[in-house]
Amino acid sequence: MTRAAIIEVRGLCKRFGEVEVLRGLDLDVYEGETFVLLGGSGSGKTVLMKHLEGLLRPDAGTVRIAGHDVSGGARRELDATHRLIGVAFQAGALFDSMTVFDNVAFPLREQLSLSPPQIAARVEEVLGLLGLGDAGHKLPAALSGGMKKRVAFARALVLRPRVLLADEPTAGLDPLTTEAVDDAIISAQKALGATAFIITHDLPTAFRIADRIGLLHEGRIIEAAPPEQFRQSQHPAVKAFLHDWLERERAEGLVTR
Ligand SMILES: Nc1ncnc2c1ncn2[C@@H]1O[C@H](COP(=O)(O)OP(=O)(O)OP(=O)(O)O)[C@@H](O)[C@H]1O
Ligand SMILES: [Mg+2]
Repeated sequence: MTRAAIIEVRGLCKRFGEVEVLRGLDLDVYEGETFVLLGGSGSGKTVLMKHLEGLLRPDAGTVRIAGHDVSGGARRELDATHRLIGVAFQAGALFDSMTVFDNVAFPLREQLSLSPPQIAARVEEVLGLLGLGDAGHKLPAALSGGMKKRVAFARALVLRPRVLLADEPTAGLDPLTTEAVDDAIISAQKALGATAFIITHDLPTAFRIADRIGLLHEGRIIEAAPPEQFRQSQHPAVKAFLHDWLERERAEGLVTR
């Protein structure tokens, strides 16, 4: 069985001045999967995601989303894919003067002509999926950090994107809240049948939510495998990455074994 790739990156190269960030990167993300990208700080994860969004143009190579080439800068292709992609912004990007309901309804009102009952139904659906069923009337200031992140996801999912992109969705949260946000994101994504591309620094998150984990190293995805296989990888860079993480956790006293 060959699986259909909804994100296809081929030979992607990007440099900033002297710094060669992406060096011929290849990546397939399959329809419906949760792909988690790991990589050291400054390895180019955010730069890669900006190419998926069509916000950066490659020096060489191509990026296709659902068959549309977003790397050539053609307006038509970019417009076609913007409807397919949901991006979870940082919590700070919520509108502080709007309720949770209105924050989530915002993209619907901007982009689709739906009746108020249709809007309410769509908003209630995603709020429910993210465990925010009772929070619609609240203002962002009254929410915890984890709830704000879930609202940001609700807003990204309300247009029912085929691809959900998220850069460090749980950064700054404590481990328990991180787990709750991870679970809410994944159950909502799966319920809506979307494909997720998620960047994280958090290894427990990666192992908990990923169908496949990828490691960005020296400008390429040098390993992309299901969690258990990734853990067993013999690639030196993967072993070093996992080892470094464990050492850091030990140093911080979080892992006692
Ligand atoms: N617009 C830009 N102009 C110049 N250099 C840039 C630009 N954007 C990114 N870079 C450089 O590209 C490299 C990769 O940056 P990127 O933000 O993708 O890292 P990252 O893997 O997301 O790191 P982190 O985990 O810290 O978020 C860095 O060296 C960064 O300084
Ligand atoms: Mg980054």
